[in-house]
Amino acid sequence: MSGKITFTMIKPDAVADGHIGAILGKIADAGFKFKALKLTQLTVADAKKFYEVHAERPFYGELVEFMSSGPIVAAVLEKDNAVEDFRALIGATNPADAAEGTIRKMFARSVGENAVHGSDSDDNALIEAQFHFSGREVF
Ligand code: RTP
Ligand code: MG
Repeated sequence: MSGKITFTMIKPDAVADGHIGAILGKIADAGFKFKALKLTQLTVADAKKFYEVHAERPFYGELVEFMSSGPIVAAVLEKDNAVEDFRALIGATNPADAAEGTIRKMFARSVGENAVHGSDSDDNALIEAQFHFSGREVF
């Protein structure tokens, strides 16, 4: 049974490129409700912890540096089948492989600087939401 919650970040590339409004608009138009939302910045330690699962991958250092390089938008989103539907909306990790109309196809710079994060499971959506937001910030 799939859950109703997912977690997303608009990554530093898309914030720097001025795409916050357009991306939030596409998310809202796709039927997601905002349960929590903020502009913030990850420390190096935050980024290391958030992407700990990728610690052994060759791109981990680059990923941590990039994700802590500037402000991000963090959000908790609600919709039926949230995790799967949101990953369909953002498209493939590499924007070159992402379908037309997806957020990564429209706004990502590259496979590393790919505009948005989307949780990959219901369990991780909850862990990631709690990593970024206190109880009083989620509505
Ligand atoms: P995300 O976790 O950010 O939503 O992305 P994803 O599930 O589509 O991809 P994942 O495999 O979890 O990778 C996490 C992030 O690492 C960067 N990456 N760089 N240079 C590379 O080959 C490479 N591969 C992955 C991307 O920022 C990716 O979103
Ligand atoms: Mg992932």
